[in-house]
Amino acid sequence: MRKYILLTGGAGFIGSHLCETLLRNGHRVINIDNFNNQYNPDIKRSNIKNSLDLAVSVQYSSSWYQFIEGSIMDEVLLDRLFSSFNIDLVIHLAAYAGVRYSLENPEIYMDVNIKGTLNLLEKCRKYRISKFIFASSSSVYGNNKHIPFSEKDSTDYPVSPYAMTKKAGELLCHTFHKLYKLNVACLRFFTVIGPRQRPDLAIHKFTKLILEGSDIQIYGDGSSERDYTYVDDIVDGIIRAASWINEQYNCYEIFNLGNSHPVSLNKVIDTIESITGKKAQLELLPMQPGDVERTYADISKAETVLGYIPKTSFERGVQEFVKWFTSYNKK
Ligand SMILES: NC(=O)c1ccc[n+]([C@@H]2O[C@H](COP(=O)([O-])OP(=O)(O)OC[C@H]3O[C@@H](n4cnc5c(N)ncnc54)[C@H](O)[C@@H]3O)[C@@H](O)[C@H]2O)c1
Repeated sequence: MRKYILLTGGAGFIGSHLCETLLRNGHRVINIDNFNNQYNPDIKRSNIKNSLDLAVSVQYSSSWYQFIEGSIMDEVLLDRLFSSFNIDLVIHLAAYAGVRYSLENPEIYMDVNIKGTLNLLEKCRKYRISKFIFASSSSVYGNNKHIPFSEKDSTDYPVSPYAMTKKAGELLCHTFHKLYKLNVACLRFFTVIGPRQRPDLAIHKFTKLILEGSDIQIYGDGSSERDYTYVDDIVDGIIRAASWINEQYNCYEIFNLGNSHPVSLNKVIDTIESITGKKAQLELLPMQPGDVERTYADISKAETVLGYIPKTSFERGVQEFVKWFTSYNKK
């Protein structure tokens, strides 16, 4: 029977890029996304156009790629999918993402990010699926002072509901690994940039405001840093984890997927200004609760075990984003 990868959240920013690469690499994919309205669902519908075109253009049979509009909270739907397809690997990206929104909406994060993850793990147990990749986040490190952040550092002190749900997801995965020998890779993504980036994330928000000539609210003095990582590098890391997990027996591993080159907020603004040719108007505000001073990935474990080496500079990532943003907003 043909093997499928079940991808959750595949209409989102990272998931839509991943889906295209999986299809190009010849994998059969079931992509489930409910187009929730955390941000404009039209963006998500546009994100999946390429993967739908790709499936058609290479004349895959319709069963090669299935896009399912539905929720990971719908257990009846999940039962139908797990019983109908020979699922070999689950790549679980569906979630409510982002720190700020989680401060105002903690309950939905608990529901989707924790109960949704549990639903998928339960189906893996019930249908004897042995491989699971979980999208975790650098936010689990909270205000870690040990630089760069290593997988061995403590993640016991999250500073936002979002981070807490990602840590809970990792712990749920570990529990299912211990109880049912599920092979798990938890991938901690560090702020992802590139075309289709979510509108709540800094590069997207700032580009929009600079091009409109509106004020940008800066929290803190601009010295806070993020380890921005290009989406193709993240996709490459996920694909590498998927190959690696195939060769494992009874594994549970956590990997940082970052760029290991933190960039300050001031540099982010300078870069967008120079790419758009427009000057930003800044409104300086105090740091926000839930925000961390810095993220900085130690990627040596992913390098050694997975052969993960990020290749894209921050500047090129912003250029590619601005190109996408301009063409998307012309439509
Ligand atoms: N983008 C980043 O910088 C970043 C950093 C760290 C971790 N992550 C994690 O990576 C994953 C993908 O992030 P993203 O930036 O692409 O976010 P995104 O919001 O663009 O993608 C998530 C997708 O999940 C879908 N979804 C949400 N609830 C669902 C449900 N109940 N059923 C089915 N689909 C549902 C959404 O509609 C969305 O398309 C998330 O788990 C996020 O926490 C992202």
